[in-house]
Amino acid sequence: MTSKQRLVIAIDGPAAAGKGTLARRIADHYDLAFLDTGALYRAVGLAMLRSGLDPDDAEAAERMARNLDLKLLEDPELRTLKAGEAASKVARHAGVRAALLDFQRDFARNAPNGAVLDGRDIGTVVLPDADVKLFVTARAEVRAERRYRELKEQGKDVSFEEVLAQVKERDARDAARATAPMKPAPDAHLLDTSEMDICAAFRAAREIIDAHMAGRTGERG
Ligand code: C5P
Repeated sequence: MTSKQRLVIAIDGPAAAGKGTLARRIADHYDLAFLDTGALYRAVGLAMLRSGLDPDDAEAAERMARNLDLKLLEDPELRTLKAGEAASKVARHAGVRAALLDFQRDFARNAPNGAVLDGRDIGTVVLPDADVKLFVTARAEVRAERRYRELKEQGKDVSFEEVLAQVKERDARDAARATAPMKPAPDAHLLDTSEMDICAAFRAAREIIDAHMAGRTGERG
């Protein structure tokens, strides 16, 4: 019972659903490595903006993704609305997605105890064999409110309407794109956090993960 089995968890869902906070908690609790895959797309988007390139330029974006400077993952500007918007634009290009795919898979494969990855296509494309898949969502107004408060706390000058409009625009772009659109994997557990705080969401996620682990132990007798 105490012998550790590797555990790979895929967490997907729309912008500002609380996936990141939940994923970090899960990673801490089960002693797993954590990768915020949105940060990779944000880094590509930010690098494009800083180089004066158009995020809609598929070839330039792919080149940027192939030569991504990983130092950008620590950049404070990564969390801005602008970087998020540029991220969802570069994320539409198949070449960009292909360039980031190996990095994500290697991360999951090389983590000794296993890993938690959060994004939009983890359960469907990046790690279709993940042990547990969660699709975390919440109503757009609730997500916008959370993101708005976060940005205000960081001293950003934004209006709620602006944040709500961007959340909706980003959802639409992420769900409608041809390559790896955001959607729940058929075997994902849906977690609607509209009426949940992070503690309740974490409890619900733990129940799902623990049930999976209990089943797996049972299978092995
Ligand atoms: O999760 P986050 O808001 O940081 O993601 C920024 C953008 O990166 C998303 O709007 C989405 O377009 C893109 N993304 C993606 N696939 C992932 C993670 C993020 O397309 N696995």
